[in-house]
This record gives sequence, C-alpha cells and structure tokens, in this order.
Amino acid sequence: MAPFIDGLAYPLRVSHYAELLNPLWASHQLRARIEHFHEETGNARTLTLRPGKGWRTHRAGQHVRVAVAIDGRTYTRTYTISSAPERDDGCFTITVKAIAGGRVSPHLVRSVGIGDHLTVGLPQGDFHLPDARPVLPLFITAGSGITPARAMLASLIAQERMPETVHVHYAPREREVIFGQELRQLAQHHRRYRFEQVFTRQGAGPGAPTAHFHAAQLERLCPDWRERDVYACGPPALLAALQRHFTAERGKHRLHIERFVADFAATPADAVGGEVRFARSRVRATADQQTPLLRVAENEGMNPPHGCRMGICHSCDARLLSGCVRDLRTGRITTEAGSIVQPCVSAAAGDCELDL
Ligand code: FES
Repeated sequence: MAPFIDGLAYPLRVSHYAELLNPLWASHQLRARIEHFHEETGNARTLTLRPGKGWRTHRAGQHVRVAVAIDGRTYTRTYTISSAPERDDGCFTITVKAIAGGRVSPHLVRSVGIGDHLTVGLPQGDFHLPDARPVLPLFITAGSGITPARAMLASLIAQERMPETVHVHYAPREREVIFGQELRQLAQHHRRYRFEQVFTRQGAGPGAPTAHFHAAQLERLCPDWRERDVYACGPPALLAALQRHFTAERGKHRLHIERFVADFAATPADAVGGEVRFARSRVRATADQQTPLLRVAENEGMNPPHGCRMGICHSCDARLLSGCVRDLRTGRITTEAGSIVQPCVSAAAGDCELDL
C-alpha cells in the first residue's frame, strides 16, 4: 500500500509530507527533537533527544551520528550516547563539549534549543560491556571521554548488576569534570563504585609530578588493575600511553579503547602533497601531505558526505579515479584507479582525482 500512496505523492514520498506535520514521523530520514538540555560545565551540555520513527535502542557505550544545518550547510559528527538504554521515556541523551575553533560542537552547546530537530543515525559501535558477566571494569576516561562510561554505569545500575568498579577520570580542574557531581554522589552511595579524579591543571606548580597517566599512578589508584577489563576513552595522548603500558605489561587484550579522533601515524619525511581534483564537483585544490582530503574538500566549499571523521563509519568512502593517496593512520599508499578510499583519513600523496 505504501508504494502506491508514495506513487500519488511523486516526486516526493508520503514521508516528506508527514515530515511537514511532524519531523519525527518522517521515514526517509531519522529525526530527533530536543526535549531538554542541561549545562554540565561551562562548555559542555547534555541534550535530551526524542527520536522519531525508525529508531532502535542502543547498547551502553555506543555512538550516534548527528547532522545539523549551520548557515545553510549540513555538518555531521558522531557523539556517544550518554544515557542508559534502560531509560523508559523513549529519549536518549548526548553530551557535547564545545571544542575551541569547532563548527558543530559550539553550535550544539550554545545555539540549539528545545523543540529544534536534528537528523540522527542509528546507534553504532562495539565499545560496550559484554553481555556475559562478571567483568571487573576499570574505566579510564578524560574530558568528554567520560560519556560512554557514564552510559555503561547508568545501565549497570538500572540492571542492578553493578560489579566492583573503579573509575579513574582526568580533567583539567574539578569544575570541568562532566557529570562530576552525579558521579561523586554515586561513589558516596554505591559501595561498589569508586571514582578517582585526577586534575591535570589544578594546583600543579613548577616541578610538581605530572598528573597525566603514568604506571605508578595507576598502581596507586587501582592496585588490582591487572585483574580488570579496562574501558578507556579520551584524547589520543592518554590512549597512546595506555596502549604502551598495557602492551609492555602483556595486558593489551584487557584494554578496550574508544577514540574521538583518528590515530594518525607520523608523516614520513619524504611525503609530498599534490593537486587534488574532485571530479564530480569540478573543484581543484592544492593539498599538502597531511591534511585529510575531506578537510581539503570542505576548505574549497564542498560538503561531501561524512560521519565519524576518523575512519570508522565509511560514510565518506569515495572512489579514487587516478593518482595516489596515503592512509594517514597506516601510511599505506593507494594508487589503483577504482579503489575505495576514506577521505577523512587519507591525504594526497602526489596528484590525485576523487569521484566526489
Ligand atoms: S567519515 Fe567516517 S569513515 Fe570517513
């Protein structure tokens, strides 16, 4: 029946008309309405979103793609869902920290309001606790990397399955701990949850020992860390330090990592950029050897499809028509015409042409 009715609505679909009445009724794209927002810190905000038709429940720790229109252009970013799936009002939350110089995060933190609609994707990602228990979790988080840990904690509590949990969190100062008050209260009232906060800029004077992650600090804060499964999320420097430590201690299999930005390898000294041609858009640009081609395109005013911007979701996949590109994570060079490359994590390695 639906295809028949869609035929009457041609060239639009019934869903497009339904969307005019209520964006949450659209089936051609998933929308979510902002129901509520809460200021977490001076530059981080939790948005409560009511998703429309087509939404499916997430697993605690998963992320979602969010698209917003700013000045007539659509930008897409990925945010971890910060609420537990057990929430019973049909809503979910994302917690966004405004990144200095960013386009989307400052907009979500300062400009959107209740009643606004965002386009969202379905929950994705494999950074979540296993179904099988027991696991002794050790969360190691920093900054807005606390969001998946908060979702997992809320889910464990909702299921009344909280194991002995240790949580080490890094923030510049106490007032910048997202969910700080909530988690401090949780630690006070829940004997199975220990919350260790490390402030990297508070009270650090010249000659003071570094407050960033190091082996002795982990030993002190969580002496039984070798028996725990570690769930870590935060900036690249923290994740790299953890990877080095757990590899050296043969505990890599216990370390589960969620990244917000791609982990790029060092650019080889002999790497070169080149002229990039975006064939369908008829745009040419000069690119250096380390700027992702997605950013090169955007700097030229293009708006190619993308999602995570770190090589996970494949929304940005594009065909290489000719020339040479380098994967910034692995250094792998692709020269074969017709290959699919990821512009968000690839740079020019000489002249190249993409089907964009
Ligand atoms: S934007 Fe997700 S892989 Fe490129």
